[in-house]
Amino acid sequence: MEQQKLLELLGEMSLDEKIGQLFQGNGSFYEGDSIATGPASEQGFSEQTIREAGSVLSVVGAGNVKQIQKAHMEKHPHHIPLVFMADIINGYRTVFPIPLAQGAAFNPQVAKTGAQVAAKEASAAGVQVTFSPMVDLVRDARWGRVMESTGEDVYLNSVYAGALVEGYQGDDPKKPGKIGACVKHFAAYGAPTAGRDYNNVELSERTLRDDYLPAYEAALRAGALLVMTSFNTLNRIPSSANKWLMRQVLREEMGFKGTVISDWAAIEEIMYHGAAMDRKEAARLALEAGTDIDMMTTCYANYLKELIEEGKVDEKLLDEAVLRVLELKNKLGLFENPFKDADEEAEKELLLCADHREKAKEAAKETFVLLENNGILPLKKEEKVAFIGPYTEEKAIIGAWSIFAREEDAVSIEEGVTAYGGNAIFEKGCELISEGASIQGMNRLYTGTGMAENREKKLLKAVKAAKEADKVVLCIGEHMAQTGEAASRGDITIPENQITLLEKIAEVNQNIVVMLFSGRPLDLRKVKTLAKAILVVWMPGTEGGSAIAEVLYGETPPSGKLPMSFPYAVGQVPVFYSEFHTGRRMDPAHPENRFQSRYMDIPNEPLYPFGYGLSYTEFSYSVVTLSKTELIRGGELKASVLLKNVGKSRGSEVVQMYIRDDVGSVARPVRELKGFQKLWLNAGEEKEVSFTITEDMLKFHDINMNNIAEAGKFTVFIGSDSRTQNQAEFVLK
Ligand code: BGC
Repeated sequence: MEQQKLLELLGEMSLDEKIGQLFQGNGSFYEGDSIATGPASEQGFSEQTIREAGSVLSVVGAGNVKQIQKAHMEKHPHHIPLVFMADIINGYRTVFPIPLAQGAAFNPQVAKTGAQVAAKEASAAGVQVTFSPMVDLVRDARWGRVMESTGEDVYLNSVYAGALVEGYQGDDPKKPGKIGACVKHFAAYGAPTAGRDYNNVELSERTLRDDYLPAYEAALRAGALLVMTSFNTLNRIPSSANKWLMRQVLREEMGFKGTVISDWAAIEEIMYHGAAMDRKEAARLALEAGTDIDMMTTCYANYLKELIEEGKVDEKLLDEAVLRVLELKNKLGLFENPFKDADEEAEKELLLCADHREKAKEAAKETFVLLENNGILPLKKEEKVAFIGPYTEEKAIIGAWSIFAREEDAVSIEEGVTAYGGNAIFEKGCELISEGASIQGMNRLYTGTGMAENREKKLLKAVKAAKEADKVVLCIGEHMAQTGEAASRGDITIPENQITLLEKIAEVNQNIVVMLFSGRPLDLRKVKTLAKAILVVWMPGTEGGSAIAEVLYGETPPSGKLPMSFPYAVGQVPVFYSEFHTGRRMDPAHPENRFQSRYMDIPNEPLYPFGYGLSYTEFSYSVVTLSKTELIRGGELKASVLLKNVGKSRGSEVVQMYIRDDVGSVARPVRELKGFQKLWLNAGEEKEVSFTITEDMLKFHDINMNNIAEAGKFTVFIGSDSRTQNQAEFVLK
């Protein structure tokens, strides 16, 4: 539809109709034929609101979507279609590894392919917009939602943000098999105080701009159609009511012209934050700030009319918001094709098809991070291997946000290794959730199922299996439901019963590989002392078990690197590599000096740093060479190393380039990732790896809050993780 037609349509709509466009309810409002029953009436929605709603969330299934859309359009005074939105995060039915794991691949193509597959499946099932990507920068492992992010780094997150949007939307979200992307949660939701979900965020404007905003901006550059506000307050102002954030930063500075949606009930929560007296005031603040769609509350539906009629809100603001919703529908082609790709036949054909499963397996293999290996890995097929631990048979490995997927579709380790033909036995050893405990997941309750009287028996069987095996692969970790939204943890260790299992096994067989399942960095001190190898497999998705088998047996070597530092202990959190020097730099050569920036009882360094990860082979780096030592503004400089596979097998390395601005008008991070390249080399092969350095890469918000690169000396580091000391210097004139 032409823009002029949209404006005409807007002009014809009644006040109620316009307000309706800003309301988003979920499927519970659309059950059967009757609307405004159940939750709808309880929450005070009128039948009219539902009838005139602009969008709906979490309704999936081609048949369902078509039926609801048809009925809705028939009843709607102007026959305006709904937009069907849902959380399609790391897959719809075929599930890829969780986003944090995708970050570990250090290969944005992994995320792009995942998003393409998700878009294909979800669009066939009627979904038109996904609430993804989440690009919140995360540095606090206590926060459960770190699993939804690609990690702690500004650059890595930005690269992935773009790739994900491109994957979902392609070059035009209207096209078949594509869906609109909604970048979230604007802004800085990833920095809740003390790692507790929904908690307030306090960030300096400089940190916000330098570290937190770039990834959202990258998603917008890639064309994301929507932005979702965050639950948190940012410097005391609830995001959904933050005029500066949304009108000045998002719209004016970043040039965003799309639609802004609140997070679930976030407009009402302005009141709970104590920043609005009541829902009516919350509605006014949110609309004034530029929040277009009200997800799951009555604030807009019940109060905007009054506010406008009382002259407290300018109707122009409403028109602006409604137009953005109509424009969204237009960009998705819904006026011409309200069902978009919803198609029962396509659903049957695409969901969990062999091609998608294969892609999910290939993706998973790239996300595993090898933290330790004394040579025990890869396993050999002739070796007798005991796979022990609660994760051997577990299928809840698809990640907490896979709400439309089914755990039973996942390949467990036992299934994957058996199909691969490993000489293996499997023993659970203990339960994933301890006796009597339960964890509320996103859409089901998980309970400890083990019978107390079986506990000893299970353990004895596992110990016996370990004794008789050449090697043990211990499959342990946190439960999927301990990760994700509302899953903050104050203790980021592996559950005690699983550590006991590890200790018991170590008494009879020291050849232990720990395979770690998690949605966040965990405290691995104990594991490190008892394991000969540690492989982090995160929540690997539908093809987890088959991918794991291929990596363990060396068919594909592991190639992931940590996208978040693994702390030494929770007391270090938030811990991240791009920290600041402090005025009392720690000098490890002088531990007797008390007055340094350090802990008395734990090291400053994380147990495993950002960017870290081993391969089955080894790589050597030459020194860094620079094409010149002076960078002229507007010019370029090339930094190179020679990378050689000096081991005995093919493998992958992620070559990482960090830059430090040695002196700035404000304190500068000790280093920042500015480039990476993932390469696969055969044994003995070498390759030159070069990065182009430009003035743009050196920019930051200076003492006057201008985004500029300051003249002076810079150090460039190129190596295999964020600790590399392989360096050279140049000067920006
Ligand atoms: C989450 C969002 C999500 C929304 C809709 C909220 O609880 O914070 O990330 O998109 O629900 O399901």
